[in-house]
Amino acid sequence: MAIQWFPGHMAKAKKEVQEKLKQVDLVLEIVDARTPESSRNPMLNEIIGEKPRIMVLNKADLADPNKTAVWIQHYQDMGYAAMAIDAQHARQLKQIPQLARQLMAEKIARKKARGIKNPAVRAMCIGIPNVGKSTILNRLVKKNIAITGNKPGVTKNQQWLKADDSFQVLDTPGILWPKFEDQAIGLRLALTGAIADAVFQEDVVGMYGLEFFMANYPNALKQAYHLTADDLNLPSSDLMVILSQRNGFADDYNRMAERLIFDARQGKLGRYTLELPGDNDADAE
Ligand code: G4P
Repeated sequence: MAIQWFPGHMAKAKKEVQEKLKQVDLVLEIVDARTPESSRNPMLNEIIGEKPRIMVLNKADLADPNKTAVWIQHYQDMGYAAMAIDAQHARQLKQIPQLARQLMAEKIARKKARGIKNPAVRAMCIGIPNVGKSTILNRLVKKNIAITGNKPGVTKNQQWLKADDSFQVLDTPGILWPKFEDQAIGLRLALTGAIADAVFQEDVVGMYGLEFFMANYPNALKQAYHLTADDLNLPSSDLMVILSQRNGFADDYNRMAERLIFDARQGKLGRYTLELPGDNDADAE
């Protein structure tokens, strides 16, 4: 679902998240493993504050495993617990309650000392739209809940859902906005499908994708579109022309750009990660 963010929405979304935060022991910050930093809310650290957090790099099945390992190390170096998962496989989600209990071990021990037999750890999911919050919630609690509150400004009675006997999650995730005013971030989010197609030009995103794959994953491009090594040495605009012609789009380069975006999202260009730690700092310079 496309969500339009306006300053009023942002303020409201922030307030809603802050209200929910008061009720939880820890936060599951969900990001897309292909864009771990671009798919984070720019104000999240400020909003979450000192609350313990687990960075969940979701959609790891679509991301470059070597780069995912770099990101996990990066977040651990920053002092966060971090894990990569594919939320489509419920088995992998078992790590979440386990890690949460490890993180909250002291608090659990204190509660036990006060006579509470099996104290539950309470958590909430937070993330920008489309990173997989609803999928994770549903798989964690092994139910299929219609997440009706999955829209900023839609309030409903909140409930605690049991993932197991001692781990509960709030049934409404916290939804925040990405830093989409930054063009490099916007391009990454557009290529992965995290932001609505209506808000970007496919020719620009398609060309960004083509240049990214030429520079970072040339073999994936070669295989997907039956290219030669010489083709890959062409300037990107010439390669776009060739691709367009060979794929039956003649000089309709926009349709080729659309195809490339589609293929990148469907995984036809293999597993890829669009950024490494520090890239966004460089973009800002
Ligand atoms: P949100 O609540 O954060 O907005 O995200 P949501 O769970 O709705 O997930 C957004 C899309 O990402 C869904 O696909 C979902 O199936 C997919 N997804 C979630 N986690 C993973 C994952 O780990 N790996 C992969 N490959 N995909 C994942 P959709 O096409 O929008 O919907 P649907 O076809 O699944 O209904």
